[in-house]
Amino acid sequence: MGILRDFDPEIADAIRNEINRQAYGIELIASENFVSRPVLEAMGSVMTNKYAEGYPGRRYYGGCEFVDDAERLARDRAKELFGAERANVQPHSGTQANMAAFFACCETGDTVMGQALAHGGHLSHGHPVNFSGRFYNVVQYEVHPETHRLDYNKIRELAKENQPTMIMCGASAYPRTIDFETLGGIADEVGAKLVADIAHIAGLVAVGLHPSPISHAYYTTTTTHKTLRGPRGGLILTHKKGYKTLQKNVFPGIQGGPLMHVIAAKAVAFKEALRPEFKEYQQRILDNAQALAAALQNEGFKLVTDGTDNHLMLIDLRSKKLTGKDFEEALERAGITVNKNTVPFDPESPFVTSGVRVGTPAVTTRGFGPEEMKIIAGWFSRVAEAPTSEDVAETIKSEVKELCARFPLYDKLDV
Ligand SMILES: Cc1ncc(COP(=O)(O)O)c(C=O)c1O
Repeated sequence: MGILRDFDPEIADAIRNEINRQAYGIELIASENFVSRPVLEAMGSVMTNKYAEGYPGRRYYGGCEFVDDAERLARDRAKELFGAERANVQPHSGTQANMAAFFACCETGDTVMGQALAHGGHLSHGHPVNFSGRFYNVVQYEVHPETHRLDYNKIRELAKENQPTMIMCGASAYPRTIDFETLGGIADEVGAKLVADIAHIAGLVAVGLHPSPISHAYYTTTTTHKTLRGPRGGLILTHKKGYKTLQKNVFPGIQGGPLMHVIAAKAVAFKEALRPEFKEYQQRILDNAQALAAALQNEGFKLVTDGTDNHLMLIDLRSKKLTGKDFEEALERAGITVNKNTVPFDPESPFVTSGVRVGTPAVTTRGFGPEEMKIIAGWFSRVAEAPTSEDVAETIKSEVKELCARFPLYDKLDV
């Protein structure tokens, strides 16, 4: 350390400030986590220097012997972790993984189905501003107007009516278990390929705390950086059937050279995820989500679907007379990071929203347990009562700092 600071103090400052923000703030963004030091080290390695277009043993560049080792390890570990026959570890991100799956399943103009963004889906599941909404004829499904849960009968009805080539399932902001088996059955009934995007719940799926889509889906896509706690990136799991088409559609279909340093870091994260401690960690994520949900409800917050089965919950702030935007900003002033999020049938725009999404993977990584969840719910309540008070924000911010100091994040990490 110190080499970067000597050469580029401005960037070193930005990184140091980010280290401190992560160390002394409370991270409740459901899609974020803190990687381990081995994962960080692999990501910061010389593998970033290597061009390796192609796949292990079949590259378009020389000198790929050692990056091949890393990619083979990543693939084998991913297959073992998820019980899949084949894995592609090259997608640069979750969206790239989904793009490759779209390209492998459909021709442009085909009809596809996906969960609407405003109902918990992801941009890359058919939103009009995304490639997925621009290249395909998209039919979006929503949650049930009363239960706010997936309505499988309605999804079946829509599928029969529209005969999609592909059904994309999975979500970014859905607090309940997803029934992949039923969705696989619906896809079979209409002759569609099911793509299951498990970006959010991958860690839970890997250890068996959420049902796995592997045997029901044609392709299973995921990010590697959320509950899975790896480097920022994507992954696709599949069976022998469909693998060749998939490979072509990742490279050369949508990407050039793979990010070999990130692939090495994915391999490290998968090794961590194969250890028994990872299952305990995933269980603690769930325990903390239950504790936080109960504590927030005790403080009078309304949760979409009245609770959660997984690592995240959606708070509907309308009963508190607050918007998601205002509450996100007020919490940030108090040292707590969440993201504003639409609630189902939200009257507000996506820039304002009526809710916030809250998740427990990151705080669980730093060691918080149910007691800390109660403290966090208390802070949420105080901020909601006085969202514009600088005094309240300042007081809570110092309490947040004190709590975080008791749960250090990275030992001796500096630039
Ligand atoms: C369900 C789901 N799929 C895909 C993605 C996209 O991942 P990325 O941001 O890596 O493109 C996300 C990101 O939040 C997600 O929640």
